[in-house]
Amino acid sequence: MSTAELHHTAPAALDTNWVRAQFPSLQTKVNGQPAAFLDGPAGTQVPTQVMHAIQNYLMNANANTGGAFLTSRRNDEIIAGTRAAMADFFNCDKDEVVFGQNMTTITLAISRAIARELKAGDEILLTTLDHDANFSPWKALEEKGVAVRQVDIREADCTLDMEDLKRKLNEKTKIVAVGYASNAVGTINPVAEITRLAHAAGALVYIDAVHYAPHGSIDVKSLDCDFLVCSSYKFFGPHMGTLYGKRQHLQRFRPYKVRPCTEQVPERWESGTQVQELIAGIGGSVEYLAELGRHCDPSAKTRREALASAYRATKAHETRLIWRLIDGLQSVPGMRIYGITDRQRAADRCSTISFRIGDHHPTAIATYLGERGIFTWDGNYYALNLTERLGVESLGGMLRVGLVHYNTMEEVERLLAALREFVA
Ligand SMILES: Cc1ncc(COP(=O)(O)O)c(C=O)c1O
Repeated sequence: MSTAELHHTAPAALDTNWVRAQFPSLQTKVNGQPAAFLDGPAGTQVPTQVMHAIQNYLMNANANTGGAFLTSRRNDEIIAGTRAAMADFFNCDKDEVVFGQNMTTITLAISRAIARELKAGDEILLTTLDHDANFSPWKALEEKGVAVRQVDIREADCTLDMEDLKRKLNEKTKIVAVGYASNAVGTINPVAEITRLAHAAGALVYIDAVHYAPHGSIDVKSLDCDFLVCSSYKFFGPHMGTLYGKRQHLQRFRPYKVRPCTEQVPERWESGTQVQELIAGIGGSVEYLAELGRHCDPSAKTRREALASAYRATKAHETRLIWRLIDGLQSVPGMRIYGITDRQRAADRCSTISFRIGDHHPTAIATYLGERGIFTWDGNYYALNLTERLGVESLGGMLRVGLVHYNTMEEVERLLAALREFVA
C-alpha cells in the first residue's frame, strides 16, 4: 500500500448530489424518464471540469507543440500539466506517461515495438478473461514464430485459473499480458501476484487497466508492472488512452516512429500530432477526481492523496450498489449471473456484472431497458475469448450492467423492477 492509501482508511460517505451536479448529461431524459447510465464500461459520462479544460484549450492554447509564441507555449504547459496529473494518477514519474489515441492503438504500437526483440521459440502468456485489445495485438506476433499460451478461467466464478497460469509460465515466457479487471464480468485479477510470478520467470508484464481505472486507485510502483494502460473515456474523461511504461523500457525498446520526432522519453512514443485538446481533457478528469477526493476528505494534502480519498469513497458506494443488484438479480426468474456472487469474495470484483435471463436474447433485454431510459450493453463487449469459453457467443452474449460512482440505489431498483416486468 502506498503512503497515500495508508494516510486514511475510513471512506467518507459519497455525496452523490454533489457528484451528479458535476455531470450535466445525467439530466438526459428518454420518453419522459430520467436516463440511467448503466453503460459505464463502454464509456462514462463527463463532468464539467473536463468540458471546461477542453474549451479552455481551444480558446486559449490551440497551437502545435514547440513554437516560439504564446499559444504554443500554453499548449506545451497544458500537455506537461496533464502528464504530471497522470503521473499522480499512476504513481509514477512524468516521463513515464505516454499519450495515445486509445488503449488498442497504444497496445498495437507497444506490442510491435517489443516484437522487434522477440524471436522464434519465445512465448507470450495471455488470458481468456481479457478484452481482445490485450489479446489480438500479442496473438499477431505468432507470425514471428512466437508461441502464444492462454490462461484459462475457472468457469464457476469467471476468475483466472492461477494454477493454469503457473503451469504455463516458464523461462521462455517474455511477456505476460493481463487485465486488471474484466470489462465483462467484473473480476479483479491478482495483478500484483501475477507480476511477481512473471518477474520471477524473467517475463515483462503488460497490464490492461482500462476497466479497473474508474473503480480503483492504481499504483504502478507497488504493482511493479512494466507497462500499464488505460483509457480516460472510461474514467470520466475524453476518448483517449494513456500508457505508463517503466522509464528503462521506454528508453530501450524502439518505437516505430518518424525521424524528426524526438528520441526523448516519453515523446518518442508519441509520433505525429496528438489530440491535444483531449489531452487537456484528460487533465480535467484527473482534476475532477482530485476535487471529489478533497470534497470527501478536505484534509487530503497532495493530489495523489485526494485521488486515493476519491477512490475510497467511490469504491464503498459502488460496493453497496453492486451487492444490492446481485441480491435483486438472484430473485429474477431464469437469471444466470456470470462471475463472482459470493460476498466473501467482494474484494475480487468491481461493480460490473453480466447475466442472461433464460433464452431471452440480450439485445431484446437491452432494447426493452433502453426504451425505458435504462442504458445497458449486450453482446461480447470485445471480451470474445470469454463469451466463447462460456458458450454464449452464438447466443448473443450476455447483458452487461456497469455501475460507477454517479449511479444511485434508485437506478438499481429501477433496473430490477424493469427486469422483473420484462420476464413477467
Ligand atoms: C478492458 C478493456 N480493455 C481495452 C479496451 C479497449 O480500449 P480502447 O477503446 O481505448 O481501445 C476496452 C474498451 O472497452 C476495455 O474495456
